[in-house]
Order: sequence, then C-alpha cells, then structure tokens
Amino acid sequence: MNGPVRAAGLARGGYTGPVNPSVTSAFMTTRVLTGITPSGTPHLGNYVGAIRPAIAASRAQEIESFFFLADLHSLIKSQEPERTQRSTLEIAASWLACGLDPDKVWFYRQSDIPETTELMWFLTVVAGKGILNRAHAYKAAVDKNREEQLDDDAGVTAGLFMYPVLMAADILIFNADKVPVGRDQIQHIEMARDFAQRFNHIYGKEYFTLPEVVIDEQVATLAGLDGRKMSKSYHNTIPLFAPREELKKLVFSIVTDSRAPGEPKDTEGSALFQMYQAFATAEQTAAFAAAFAAGIGWGEAKQQLFERIDGELAPLRERYNALMAEPEKIEAILRRRGQQLREQFAIPLLKELRHAVGLRDLSAAGDKPRAAAAAKAALPLFKQYREKDGRFYFKLLDGEGALLVQSQGFDSPRDAGQLIAALKQAGHGDALQGGQYTLEADVDTVLAALRQLREAD
Ligand code: TRP
Repeated sequence: MNGPVRAAGLARGGYTGPVNPSVTSAFMTTRVLTGITPSGTPHLGNYVGAIRPAIAASRAQEIESFFFLADLHSLIKSQEPERTQRSTLEIAASWLACGLDPDKVWFYRQSDIPETTELMWFLTVVAGKGILNRAHAYKAAVDKNREEQLDDDAGVTAGLFMYPVLMAADILIFNADKVPVGRDQIQHIEMARDFAQRFNHIYGKEYFTLPEVVIDEQVATLAGLDGRKMSKSYHNTIPLFAPREELKKLVFSIVTDSRAPGEPKDTEGSALFQMYQAFATAEQTAAFAAAFAAGIGWGEAKQQLFERIDGELAPLRERYNALMAEPEKIEAILRRRGQQLREQFAIPLLKELRHAVGLRDLSAAGDKPRAAAAAKAALPLFKQYREKDGRFYFKLLDGEGALLVQSQGFDSPRDAGQLIAALKQAGHGDALQGGQYTLEADVDTVLAALRQLREAD
C-alpha cells in the first residue's frame, strides 16, 4: 500500500485519512487498463485498430498504463497447450516490437497475478447470476443451442459463463479508471462496475474504483483483402509481420474494380485507398487521392501502398524477429513486471479484501476479550469492609453475589487479610474447620469457589 501511486489510488477510492491533498494530486494519474487475449498472430487490422493507437495513448504523461496478456481468458477458447504458449509469446513480442515500453507501462501476464483469481471468487459471490445470464457471449451460445433444439447449455463451459467475472477482477485488482475496449466489450465493463458496486456496498467501503469504458470512435476498422472488414474469421487478413515478399504478394491480391490505367478511380469504398490512408500522413493521402483521380493504374497504386506499409513495418518486423529469437527476454520482462505489480498492488489489496470479507486470523477473533470478561464477572470475590463497630470484616461472595463465607470482626485489616490468604490456600474441607468465620454455603461450594480464585490468580 505504500508509494505515491497507491496513495493516489486510495484517494480516488474515497480514502478519507490523512493524505496531504496537494501531495496526492501531484501523483494523480489516470489508470488505463487494456487486456489482450492472446489468440493467433496479429494482422494489420489489429495493428491499425488496436495496437498502434493504444501504444500511442500510453505515451501520454498523466496516464498510468496497464497492458496485460489475458492468457487465463484464452483458455476458454483454446485448450491446446502448445498453441496457448505460442500465442502468448507472439502477442507479447508483437506489442513490444510495436513500441510498447515495458519500463514505462505495466506489461504483464494475467496468470502471473494469482490474486486475480482469488478476487474473482470474491466477486463471484456477489455477482448476480441473472446478470451473467444476459452476457452477450453466453446468450449467443444459448440462442444457438435453442435454434438447433439442443439443451440450452449444451457445450457451454462454466468458463464462458464466468468470463465477465474474471474480466472484472482484471480491472478491479488495479483499480483502473478507464478501460478502452471494442463495442462488444462495453457490457463487460458495465458488469465490472456492477460487481464493484455490490462489493463496496456489502462490505461498507469504497474498496473499488468504478471503471469507465472508453470507446475510440476515431479508430477505423481496416478493410481486408476482399473489401470486408479485416478479420481472421473472413480469411482476408494480412499478417502484421509477414516477410516483405509475402506482404507484397498479399497487397497485390487486394480486390479492386476493373478500371484500366488512365481511368479515374474512386477513393470512396476502395479498400486499397483506405489501407493507404491508415499508413500515410494527410498530405501523402491527398497526393494518393489526386493520383486516383488522375487514373493511376491498380498495379502502380498497389506498389505505392506496399512501399508505404513496408516503410512503417520493416523496423517493427526486424524487432519482432529479434524478440522471437530470444523468448527468454520476454519471459523475464513479464515476470519482473508481474512480480512488481503483485508486491505493490495485488498482494496488499487481497490482504485488505480478505480481512474485509472476514477471512481473518482466528487468534484475533472478537470473542476472546468477551469470554475473558465473562469469566472474570463470574469469579467469586472476597470483600473486606469495616463495620460501625470499628472492626474489620470480610465475606466471600460467589460470581452472582451470593454469600458463601462470613467472617467475624478483626482488630486490624491485616488480621482479616491473613485469614483470607489462608482460606485461599485451603484445598480440602478440613482446612475450613474451626476458623473465625462461618460457612454460609456447603463446604464443597466454598471449596469450588476458592479453587476458582486460585486458578484465576
Ligand atoms: N475480453 C477482452 C477482449 O476479448 C480481453 C480482456 C480480458 C480485457 N480482461 C480484460 C479487456 C480486462 C479489458 C479489461 O478483448
């Protein structure tokens, strides 16, 4: 919980303790968290639509960025160990090659933060099942089953069902303020807010910041080789780090209309033009548009597009290949950052949350002082006092105040005290015989009371 960053996080979370506000605000950063599900090799569409803008945004001053590989999530879809490992490596290498600076941003692997899955359980027990029933991915699976007249949950794993809870844990464990996602993920952020709110409410403190969704309206979806949105499921992608020759071949396979060289071409609706734009400055794009109007041939246009893309990607490709040749370096980065995150945030947070929900050290349980107080209250008691006759007396009362022993009068309190001490020592009935007092209860009761006093001393 130490450190300026955490202090800022607490302040946001409604911390009301003695934090100097001027100090806190100096470190007030917005936490932006991005999860990347490792699945296959990224393509140009991922680069233009997600990787490049996210890395650019992470360079802003007042931002603390969290980028992580959602490898636990990937297990829901892919249960081939080799593929999971390979995908995780490729995606990590891709983001690093594209310029993510692991010393400036938090770059880590979900499965390296085991506290995430523990938090997931704390959220699971407050999450409404009905809310999860309405999650798009789960509902789509159910709808498909119904269409095929199968059982609602046929082939649906609990992993798919719980997907949003794990995602909420990813976000809440670092108290992220903003989560940039695609439209299909908006619902998941709303659920994360819901679970966080419930938890805060039930346990009576703002443990979690409520994350906000960020949708970048600017980011264009890139068209693929066939003019439809570039997507793995359409098999129309250009792999981000395709070697130069392969990249050239793919660019030349982009579908165009049949206009001959010399005929003016439309920029509107042209996948080729749109792709050029994604890799060019405004002036370069304007020049390309002019060339279209002037009837540039498709072959020449493709050549220009290819050079433009390759110009931007060649240095990244080189870095990517170097990284893929030394996977142990990537492993070391991910481990180091994961460990730091655990120590700075995850472990202290979970410690606090465990306490909050009542998973506590039993030796400090609340009954201990109460039991001790109860035992003390029940203890018999010698009372010494002075009567009007000027002499000193004592009596022994049980825990409830009933009279057990009554002394006669003594000349000094000291005489009375000595007899009390002797009585306390009395271990058997004989010792109670013939003293300067009378037993008001039976011998066994008096002996039991005296034993209780001895043991309590
Ligand atoms: N579900 C996200 C996706 O498919 C990946 C993801 C997992 C994520 N956990 C996250 C995104 C937390 C943002 C925050 O794209």
